[in-house]
Amino acid sequence: MKNLKLIISYLKQYKKSIAIGVLCLIIVDAIQMVVPKIIQHVIDSLHNPSFTMNAILMYAGIIFGLAIFMAVLRFLWRVLLITNSFKIEKKIRNDYYEHLQKLSPRFFQNHNTGDLMAYATNDLNAVRMLFGIGVVLMFDVFFVTLGSFLLMSNINLKMTLYVIIPLPIVTFVTIYFGKKVHRLFKKVQEIFAHLSDRAQETISGVRIIKSFVRENAYEARVGEVAEDLVNQNMKLVKIWGMFFPLMFAIIGISLMVTLYIGGTKTILREITIGEFVAFTSYLHLITWPVIAVGWIVNLYQRGTASLNRIQDIMHQKPEIYDEPCVDRSITSLHGDISLKNLHYTYPDTEVPVLSDISINIKAGETLAIVGRTGEGKSTIIKLLTRLFNPPKNEIYIDDHEIYQIPLETLRQSIAVVTQDIFLFASSVKENIQFGNENVTEEDVVEIAQISQFYNDIKGFEMEFDSIIGERGVSLSGGQKQRLALSRALIKDAPILVLDDAFSSVDTETEEIILKNIRGSQKNKTVLIIAHRISTMQHADKIIVLSNGKVVEQGTHKTLLELKGIYTDIYNRQKLREELEM
Ligand SMILES: Nc1ncnc2c1ncn2[C@@H]1O[C@H](COP(=O)(O)OP(=O)(O)OP(=O)(O)O)[C@@H](O)[C@H]1O
Ligand SMILES: [Mg+2]
Repeated sequence: MKNLKLIISYLKQYKKSIAIGVLCLIIVDAIQMVVPKIIQHVIDSLHNPSFTMNAILMYAGIIFGLAIFMAVLRFLWRVLLITNSFKIEKKIRNDYYEHLQKLSPRFFQNHNTGDLMAYATNDLNAVRMLFGIGVVLMFDVFFVTLGSFLLMSNINLKMTLYVIIPLPIVTFVTIYFGKKVHRLFKKVQEIFAHLSDRAQETISGVRIIKSFVRENAYEARVGEVAEDLVNQNMKLVKIWGMFFPLMFAIIGISLMVTLYIGGTKTILREITIGEFVAFTSYLHLITWPVIAVGWIVNLYQRGTASLNRIQDIMHQKPEIYDEPCVDRSITSLHGDISLKNLHYTYPDTEVPVLSDISINIKAGETLAIVGRTGEGKSTIIKLLTRLFNPPKNEIYIDDHEIYQIPLETLRQSIAVVTQDIFLFASSVKENIQFGNENVTEEDVVEIAQISQFYNDIKGFEMEFDSIIGERGVSLSGGQKQRLALSRALIKDAPILVLDDAFSSVDTETEEIILKNIRGSQKNKTVLIIAHRISTMQHADKIIVLSNGKVVEQGTHKTLLELKGIYTDIYNRQKLREELEM
């Protein structure tokens, strides 16, 4: 019931075209019912001496005219009714993607990308079928069944009752086979997806497979799934192979009954030959709906199950949103950041990642964070950009409690070069601009120079228009990092965050970039997370994280005097550099 209401709520928006479409459908159905009546009349008039060749030609002409008229109407209802289903599909798809964009990283952590993609493809397909062909069939089945039944019983009620007895069996057989076929088909699709995954892995991982001499193992892995696919397809073919013969056998029973009873009644002159012929035509007409009912049941079950799955996602409340305390008058930030005893434990986990972190940075200052891997450095950034919700009253920017700042302002004000870089399969220029319409070509060039990426770009065949990724240029690790840095710098936000942004860049280039940033981004607050001392030695303040706490803080100079963890890291790096020289 709930499902039906939901379906109707979607259909309501297209009331008008559905009404016209259904009207066309009813007219086509009605004409279909009239044609056997015309044939009946012609056959029964053949005895009549006054029935001339001209009359036959006239009726033939009428049937031909009706056929053309039906063709036009059929085209119309298809366009009207099926187009709606595409529009509904588009609307649901857009709503779905829009909603996904609002959900937090935690949602994506708990949901499989493959599943989320399947909702937007396979499931949405099932929904479209329900709203398109499903709706058409529902109306068609109703009118054709009702009309054929009435006209058949008008010829002979008893005979009608006899011949329709086997027909519900057809419906059940269709439902049963439909389910079985669907299950097998889904399995085939799954195996196929698995096969493409494995094939893709084998192709994209070809270098590593070759260097480990694992060609045979990987060939076998693909072969295994390919074998599965053949077996599953064979099962599907067998089921399909059984379905139609069985169906026609059952329908054949009805035809047999018609021929026997109808023939007898015609001989006994209870019905005319014309009526007998018309009756068989109606039987043909009514066999379609009985198959279609089975189909509708399956379409309905599949379509509503898919619709429910999509709805479940749509009902997921975004965890991160502007809360009631938000102050919409805050439209920009300067960049003073203050963490007050910041604690954090990731949702669904027990162990605190950060405890008691207190930091103050003034706008325009540079803060560096250092610490062993997994100490929670990136977590601080995720909390600062509210990719995860921090505890209340522990993060302040420009003296605003972070929850008072509208999310849009907050994220506009912080430009991040993340540790794991994601680039889009578009041109270098588009990756740097990243949808920012206020950026000119000159800006892109200037920023690429600051990031020390310009000379690399000049070396690409298509320069700024070179496509990144498949069949385009493949960027080296350091080039990716400098591209990500350009993308962040072009945002021109008051707070710049560089999370391990130079790990693949050589120290010399890194120093030039940092100098460029210091020169061009003077008023910006810069947060640098790094493992190399060289990256952070010029920072106004350096903090050392250990076990989720700030264990040392100061400047490069004061920290070295402390002779603690920082000095330790410094000495080890110095030693390594000397050994490398
Ligand atoms: N989404 C998450 N859910 C649960 N735990 C997480 C999540 N992200 C990170 N962690 C855990 O939090 C801890 C800190 O992770 P974080 O990424 O902040 O470390 P990091 O200091 O940036 O390390 P690295 O130097 O390797 O980048 C790690 O133990 C990590 O496993
Ligand atoms: Mg990190």
